[in-house]
Amino acid sequence: MATQTLKAQPGAALRGKIRAPGDKSISHRALILGAMAAGETRITGLLEGDDVLRTAAAMRAFGAVVEHLGDGAWRVLGQGGFAEPQDVIDCGNAGTGVRLIMGAAAGFDLSATFTGDASLRKRPMGRVLDPLSLMGARHMGRSGGRLPLTLKGGALTGLTYELPVASAQVKSAVLLAGLHAEDGVTVREPEPTRDHTERMLRAFGAVVEVSDVAGVRVIRLAGGQALTGAVIDVPGDPSSAAFPLVAALITPGSEVTVEGVLLNPLRTGLFETLREMGADLTITGARDAGGEPVGDITARYSQLVGVEVPPQRAPSMIDEYPILAVAAAFAEGRTAMRGVGEMRVKESDRLALMARGLAACGVGVEEEAEALTVIGSARGNHPIRGGASVTTHGDHRIAMSHLVLGLAAQEAVSVDEPGMIATSFPGFVALMNGLGAGIYD
Ligand code: S3P
Repeated sequence: MATQTLKAQPGAALRGKIRAPGDKSISHRALILGAMAAGETRITGLLEGDDVLRTAAAMRAFGAVVEHLGDGAWRVLGQGGFAEPQDVIDCGNAGTGVRLIMGAAAGFDLSATFTGDASLRKRPMGRVLDPLSLMGARHMGRSGGRLPLTLKGGALTGLTYELPVASAQVKSAVLLAGLHAEDGVTVREPEPTRDHTERMLRAFGAVVEVSDVAGVRVIRLAGGQALTGAVIDVPGDPSSAAFPLVAALITPGSEVTVEGVLLNPLRTGLFETLREMGADLTITGARDAGGEPVGDITARYSQLVGVEVPPQRAPSMIDEYPILAVAAAFAEGRTAMRGVGEMRVKESDRLALMARGLAACGVGVEEEAEALTVIGSARGNHPIRGGASVTTHGDHRIAMSHLVLGLAAQEAVSVDEPGMIATSFPGFVALMNGLGAGIYD
């Protein structure tokens, strides 16, 4: 029977060197672009978490040959286009998977029906369907653009689109559809979001022009561009590396190094914020891997102080606010995270669940519609009690964040639905326990 809960016992210092699993965003894109391209794509370091495995299965359903060669190594033989799938595409828990695949599929003459798990079926798809409809794709789904829905692709017209929300998924869906639009697409993003799609499109041979027009990032992709297979080495996921690194920062006596972490500046908002909080974080071995900057990050136990996190930083750390909130709980003073309303439409309402979970662990917290403020309780003066059983609503990052909190609290913290951790971080428990943590069934 699957484990129903996991419990993190406070105590031991964390020490050692590990590799984070492959970056989830880049892994989805490598499979999708590989399937859209003509010819062979070789991938190493692919994240073999549930989300990405769903995308691999989806790419097979659209006609690509997708082979697992062993430990993170994959081969995709793209057919230069998508064929109509014979069955429903189930993207599981993966918002990135379904939104990018809908964009990729929209330019082909096919109908495809998409669904997902209970969490994904609650999440808004209108943000992707709106621009795809403007380009000529049609769809029918549940109210509010919720899954399951059927998308009918075909000949698309060009589009100039200003992103109404800072979302790399929306941008990517428009760009992937734009490959097949008559006049291509132009996307304007008022807040820059992760640019892995732009970078990877170039690696697959497309021309993507990026410019800055009065502070607005403008991405232009001409239509009718064919992709050819590429070699992609997926770096470690900073969103996953964040958990052992923050665990080290808040657990006395700790020193942890995570090797080969993606350091794309559009993903490093958490590390910037932690440094402002006084975190002892050092980067060594900065290098380039597959068109992306990577490096090894070492975190040592630190006395943290609360900070104001500016709203403009949200896109570069949107998935990291839950673990930042945990770091903030152990800091001295208040940490205010503003402009974080997007947290509410992730795998769960992360703003509400973090507020609830932290409060249950004895942490002072203030929840507003678009802001989360954590009242730090500097170690020694006000230790954090912990001792709660936290409801995760099946959200992997809510589970990992509270387990990390439990490692440095006074009493153990347990979380439900721990199986969901494997969507982004398979092997999380073994890896953390290898560093000295005590996380058990
Ligand atoms: C992602 C973009 C972000 C992020 C998600 C991955 C991507 O979502 O939260 O985990 O790979 O493009 P939004 O585009 O909704 O901000």
